[in-house]
Amino acid sequence: MPATSELTYSPFSKAIFDDPYPVYRRLRTEAPVYRDPGERWWVLSRFADVASALRDWETYSSKLGPAPENPDDDGRKYSVISMDPPRHDRIRGVLKGFFTPRAVTAMEGALQRVVDHHLDRLTPGTTVDAMEAFAFSVPTDVIGDLLGVPHADREQLRVWWEAFLTRHEGEVTMPPSAIEANRRISSYIGDLIEARRTEPGDDLISIVLQATFHDPEIGDDRALTPHEVLMFCNLLSAAGSETTQKLISNGLVAMHDHPDQWQRIVHDHSLIPAAVNEALRYDTPSHWVARTLTRRVELHGVTMEAGDWVLLLLGSANRDERRYDDPDRFILDRPRGTDVYFGWGIHICLGQWLARREAQMVFEAVAKKFPNYAIGAHERVLTATVRGYTSVEMMLR
Ligand code: HEM
Repeated sequence: MPATSELTYSPFSKAIFDDPYPVYRRLRTEAPVYRDPGERWWVLSRFADVASALRDWETYSSKLGPAPENPDDDGRKYSVISMDPPRHDRIRGVLKGFFTPRAVTAMEGALQRVVDHHLDRLTPGTTVDAMEAFAFSVPTDVIGDLLGVPHADREQLRVWWEAFLTRHEGEVTMPPSAIEANRRISSYIGDLIEARRTEPGDDLISIVLQATFHDPEIGDDRALTPHEVLMFCNLLSAAGSETTQKLISNGLVAMHDHPDQWQRIVHDHSLIPAAVNEALRYDTPSHWVARTLTRRVELHGVTMEAGDWVLLLLGSANRDERRYDDPDRFILDRPRGTDVYFGWGIHICLGQWLARREAQMVFEAVAKKFPNYAIGAHERVLTATVRGYTSVEMMLR
């Protein structure tokens, strides 16, 4: 795009979603507080601004939810992701011990079994669609095992989640197919919850059902309401698989495009955790989160009013040249500090350690079995916020 062309950014444009980085660069330089032409939201794109907004939940509220095209008007549409403290902290607290690094270490054996199951059946010398072969199924099985979703239903659930997130070119509203998918997911998870209510197991749904916490509003301990349980489990089932699928596939494409870095990984597996962090930064799965302002904010000479929507572009923050040297290259030895690919502040991704460990195990299996893999044709899916592929041709060698 020539520098003289008009600067327009829409999160729902397929052309931009296919390669958002040139537009992100222009936003950071020319309009760090960008106003959507339809006046629906502001867009912050610099790392420092995005990180400060993520930390300041009192000003940048999550109360109306993460999606301006589908606001949470009555506080019932989403779970913790559309709550502010103190409600947010109480519900999130129910599972805070479940996803810590130590808890994920305890899951190590189970995670490795899932990864081995999908990668051991692949044969060197063949060509596969990496999405179908393992990138869809590893995260879907990991969260499916944790939630106790029967094997036979997992692919259906994944397809519904993809339909829920998919958007049509240029359209801001949710398409009917996304609304219908959402209805089916809620109904399916609702049935699963009812089954656990009568027959509890050691899965996450049973843990959420049995948890109690102190609720100062009623001055007593209480369990989550049926609606709170449903929304929390819905969120886990989506967040647990969609983004991690993209991390795995975006990372494999990025490392294929940077063969010198990949060869270092092949010869030294201790670099894999750094490779996963760099994949999260370089081609991040979650491109933006949204907030609404609780008060007027002045930033870079621009005034945003209370009640306005603001998109925080994580995908742009991760490529900000003010924060990262040579940001458009995949560099394993990059010094690390605060990164915002999992968000930051009170809403920082609950499943970040789990997602990292899944991707690390997949990259390690590929490094061992297919050190000279190649990538062929790959096709992206247009979704609301999650950027990644729907198919990736991979030559296994
Ligand atoms: C590569 C994989 C993942 C990425 C890139 C990712 C990204 C994110 C981001 C950016 C947020 C912050 C949203 C906001 O600030 O509004 C978030 C929140 C969240 N994530 Fe993830 N996520 C991933 C995997 C997972 C997994 C595996 C789980 C669970 C099993 C999970 C569960 C959650 C939950 C429950 C929240 C809401 C936390 C809150 O509002 O307090 N995520 N994630």
